[in-house]
Amino acid sequence: MGVVSVAEEKVTVSVIKADVGGFPGHSEVHPDLLEACEGVLEDAVDEVIIDYYVTRCGDDIDLIMTHARGEDDEKVHELAWNAFQEATKVAEDLKLYGAGQDLLSDAFSGNVRGLGPGAAEMELVERPSEPIIVFCCDKTEPSAFNLPLFRIFADPNNTAGLVLDPSMHNGFEFEVHDVIDQKKVVLKCPEEMYDLLALIGQTQRYAIKRVYKKGDEDEAERIAAVTSTERLNLIAGEYVGKDDPVAIVRCQSGFPAVGEVLEPFTFPHLVAGWMRGSHNGPLMPVSEEEAHPTRFDGPPRIIALGFQLRNGELVGPQDLFADPAFDRAREIANEVADYIRRHGPFQPHLLSEEELEYTTLPDVLKKLEDRFEDLEE
Ligand code: F6R
Ligand code: MG
Ligand code: MG
Repeated sequence: MGVVSVAEEKVTVSVIKADVGGFPGHSEVHPDLLEACEGVLEDAVDEVIIDYYVTRCGDDIDLIMTHARGEDDEKVHELAWNAFQEATKVAEDLKLYGAGQDLLSDAFSGNVRGLGPGAAEMELVERPSEPIIVFCCDKTEPSAFNLPLFRIFADPNNTAGLVLDPSMHNGFEFEVHDVIDQKKVVLKCPEEMYDLLALIGQTQRYAIKRVYKKGDEDEAERIAAVTSTERLNLIAGEYVGKDDPVAIVRCQSGFPAVGEVLEPFTFPHLVAGWMRGSHNGPLMPVSEEEAHPTRFDGPPRIIALGFQLRNGELVGPQDLFADPAFDRAREIANEVADYIRRHGPFQPHLLSEEELEYTTLPDVLKKLEDRFEDLEE
């Protein structure tokens, strides 16, 4: 493993993800694809990256990489692109489902953004001890993180540190993206909490991109959380797969404790995604082992991997939802799945017309065009 030589040098954690083929269907990644990615990343240690860990959630491969090159670095993005291309070759060879589906372009052009893969990247000044959690989801969308990130960084009912820890008591800033109009705004909590909630409750449009601790320090010291907010379907102009998101959260010593960061996931909140990317369903926290959506292609899943950074090296992971403390959340998620599934093709299980990723509605309306009559009133 390569190691950053100067202690105060900034380290970047880049989590870049893509679905380049499922096994079977859209349920999981074949181990040979993970191996192909590991081979590519291993060859880049010391050249481009310091360390890496390859995982998957459902049919998405998640490349967790550390380096000293900053966010949006061409070499790091190219490396991820090459790993996904190698994995695609294996997926094609095995005739896996949807081989190469998230690689929307034939050629790499400087940055994976806009080419299909999703990315969450965090440049940070590594503290004397730097605990981080990487979250990876399948069968849902980036704004699935809105509710938990709000609870973690703004809700004293969740995070005792907001009340008790003097270094968190001033609160946090939330960078919110309008993923449709491609705009952003920064809102401060607690003072602008109601404005923040007015936006992020609208999950089809607004997604929390970053959270910062308030203060005058460099952003690399204040950064607390980052998510991937790419909307694949908006990029491609048509439905080409769900934008299954990832996030990185810093913990402890002035940031929420590991247990405060995990606490919101005891409530399996409803998120958009699931079957055909067109249904609301509970987000079930699971171990890496259990991160393969089955029932009705779900329910949507999330894994949480804990690491300690050691001069850029990834010490870990610890599989944080592989714990009986989350059994109850999984039970609730199954109960909610039973309940909401009984709605069949009706809202609110089914998403609204604009959010549906598969629809026959235009065809049905066209077919019935001549049979629609004006109401008498
Ligand atoms: C949702 C998802 C799956 C597929 C479904 C149909 O994000 O990936 O639920 O939408 O399995 O897939 P196709 O149309 O490929 O047969
Ligand atoms: Mg897929
Ligand atoms: Mg997926």
